[in-house]
Amino acid sequence: RDTRIPREKGLDNSLSLMQEGYLYIPNRCRRFQSNIFETRLLGQKAICMGGEEAAEIFYDNDRFQRKGAAPKRVQKTLFGVNGVQTMDGAAHHHRKQLFMSLMTEKRLKVLNDITAEQWQASISEWEKQDKVVLLEEARQIMYRIGCKWAGVPVKEKQVEQHAGDLGAMIDAFGAVGPRYQKGRRARTRMEQWARQIVTDVRNGKLEPPEESAAYAMAFHLDLNNRRLSTQMAAVELLNIIRPIVAISRFITFGAMAMHDHPEVREKVKKDRESYRKWFVQEIRRFYPFGPFTGARVRRNFTWKGHAFKKGTLVLLDLYGTNHHPEIWEEPEQFRPERFRHWKGSPFDFIPQGGGEYDMGHRCAGEWVTIEVMKTSLAFLTMIDYEVPPQDKSIDMARMPTLPKSRFVITNVTSRR
Ligand code: HEM
Repeated sequence: RDTRIPREKGLDNSLSLMQEGYLYIPNRCRRFQSNIFETRLLGQKAICMGGEEAAEIFYDNDRFQRKGAAPKRVQKTLFGVNGVQTMDGAAHHHRKQLFMSLMTEKRLKVLNDITAEQWQASISEWEKQDKVVLLEEARQIMYRIGCKWAGVPVKEKQVEQHAGDLGAMIDAFGAVGPRYQKGRRARTRMEQWARQIVTDVRNGKLEPPEESAAYAMAFHLDLNNRRLSTQMAAVELLNIIRPIVAISRFITFGAMAMHDHPEVREKVKKDRESYRKWFVQEIRRFYPFGPFTGARVRRNFTWKGHAFKKGTLVLLDLYGTNHHPEIWEEPEQFRPERFRHWKGSPFDFIPQGGGEYDMGHRCAGEWVTIEVMKTSLAFLTMIDYEVPPQDKSIDMARMPTLPKSRFVITNVTSRR
């Protein structure tokens, strides 16, 4: 049996990646009739893979490591340099505990209350405006929610700038040129702000609750019983607030889904059985956000006869796995009810990574994302608005992508 991994020709295929975006890996898997292929990206050999079995080996810590996987350009925009995403082994586990300790049921309840209160507070402003660009408003609401939940004071004068900067850091992850530069400058500003928060918490000028992220990051002790550097604590604090701002993207997609499928909106409003949960899951499955994630081979091994050589970059296709025809029936249909029967495998539905939370790199904020989406999208079913003609197309080559119009709504009224 020929077990060579199918190989894409070419000295470097980064241009195709830029041109096809989210569809780069799935297009080739289809063409090669294989869940795995080899290519060259950013001047190096890379193995791309997707599907449930591929996800399962990708999250085996014995075979893969994160050290050296995330490009510096992604660390300088999206993640922050040397954050939890880049760690391995005991140090990673310990740092990950810091994040997971914030995700208690009690704290998620607090988060939901803050979320409802912040949407409520925004609506009276919207009623006065001719039009609302939902993505932008949602970003600011998410920034407020993120800060309040993290124990960080919100200064009204800063909301627009900070929400914009955090948005720009996210928007930069697959960019080159001006969009990338904008993300870098945004990170520089936001790290400076976050360092000041950490300093103020440490010297008692700010007194956030002990169970908040601001407190946790400021006083966390590493495995050598030392506090994080101010810079590192700032990076990790931003690793809470920034991704909460990122939820605005899923909310925008969710509003679009409710507009495109009016019967879905009614069901979200009524919330029979677990419809809201299914709806949120289907948004996270269907719409493009995280395209893929990367790791490096930790030691030589073979899988299904394919040789993985130590040090090779391996990309796991998140978007493609969520649309994989071996996993999902009619994957290109938006159908929340499909989650009625979902068995909850840690490897077949991976919009925020797969595997385990504690030992692996699966997103620490998955429950936060689900809860904030449920509360936010339910809120949107309780107000009235119109959706004027606009370009809602989603450019699959852009990473990350959004409906072109950012979803504009008009004539907002609350019925209470
Ligand atoms: C990791 C996606 C929201 C905190 C990740 C990963 C993905 C992801 C793809 C990496 C998985 C991997 O490489 O194996 C998303 C998406 C979100 C979101 C699409 C939607 C807005 C959040 C939220 C938080 C959060 C709200 C925190 C409140 C983290 C952290 C990690 C992470 C700390 C690093 C985990 C580790 O390396 O061990 N996320 N995330 N994320 N996410 Fe999220």
